[in-house]
Amino acid sequence: MNQNFSERILKTPASFIREILKVTENDEIISFAGGLPNPISFPKEQLRESMERIITEHGDKVFQYSSTEGYLPLRQWIAKQYKKTYRNDIEPEDILITTGSQQALDLMGKVLINQGDVLGIEEPGYLGAIQAFTMYEPDFAPIPLLEDGLDIEYLDKILKEKKMKLLYTVPNFQNPTGLTYSKQKRKELCEILKEHQTYLIEDDPYGKLRFQGESYPYIGSFGLERSVLFGTISKTITPGMRLGWICTKNKELMRHLVTAKQASDLHSNIFTQYMVYDYLTNYDLEKHIQKIKSLYLEQSTAMQKAMKEYFPENVSYTKPKGGMFVWGSLPEGKSSLELFHKAIQRKVAFVPGNPFYVDDSKMVPAFRLNYTNMKPPMIRKGIQILGETMKEI
Ligand SMILES: Cc1ncc(COP(=O)(O)O)c(C=O)c1O
Repeated sequence: MNQNFSERILKTPASFIREILKVTENDEIISFAGGLPNPISFPKEQLRESMERIITEHGDKVFQYSSTEGYLPLRQWIAKQYKKTYRNDIEPEDILITTGSQQALDLMGKVLINQGDVLGIEEPGYLGAIQAFTMYEPDFAPIPLLEDGLDIEYLDKILKEKKMKLLYTVPNFQNPTGLTYSKQKRKELCEILKEHQTYLIEDDPYGKLRFQGESYPYIGSFGLERSVLFGTISKTITPGMRLGWICTKNKELMRHLVTAKQASDLHSNIFTQYMVYDYLTNYDLEKHIQKIKSLYLEQSTAMQKAMKEYFPENVSYTKPKGGMFVWGSLPEGKSSLELFHKAIQRKVAFVPGNPFYVDDSKMVPAFRLNYTNMKPPMIRKGIQILGETMKEI
């Protein structure tokens, strides 16, 4: 029956989270399962004004086909931001606008990965990346993620044993763990990668959502030739507009990415690009982000407090200083799937650890919690129920 379909698609798993979200759509459920930004992060009124202004000011251009690379003023704006905070040699031609950073993952796979190529990925890792890359049939090399970033010794060993084509990382408030790479780890990683031909992706949807402490430089900024950085407006303005970008100084790679994008969708939504650029130049993005961060800090604090109070002693969890997620670990031998089924009966949802592993058949005694979509009293109630359910299993 399956013979009509490509092996590629047959090997690619449907998103487990989307399946879970169907269960949690019910209003009665206290859901820590989703990964959605809080609607407070949508500047609706300002975007409405921007929409009217771009139609008046730019007329037909906002409705017409456009260039694959993206709207130049928007690329200039992004390059300028990187110049200010990252490295001073980023130019607009180093930016390719994509349809969310999810498309950036697909394009990198398309351009770099042949069947069987070794692809390093954090373990646990972002399941959307596992899904996007699986399409290109790589030989995944999961690298354990420690409190302060990738396990460098392990990575070094793999790099010496195998020719790794691509290494995918989320160095700020990683999805699913909320962990952030230390400055030292970033330097070490850069030094190791300089000795190899491996391309490094730093996917950074959460970096701007740091609500405590100071930000660290990008790994590529320590001088890496094969460095690629992804950005997106999904967590700071709106995910629905599907607007992200790839930043790389590697000209040859950029040329191939543009061709791959052309073949995929010609260009990303130009109306959206005009609108977001208008928003960025007429309103105060930093002030807007401050509002999001204050809310997430409050929600994260409520969750941390409740976990301390209600979770059993032998359950550990991360303490992120930004982003949207917490990662919890049950004692060895305990099943997060069993916990999930029991908790859902008590109307509390979260994501069990399995889908964040390349080999999702492994029993993973861990789970992901999202705190951005519940009010603090509900967070407290949900965590209390979860703690009681944990004690039961
Ligand atoms: C690590 C990571 N990368 C990429 C994405 C997808 O982002 P976008 O909406 O820009 O496609 C997400 C979304 O949750 C994410 O967590």
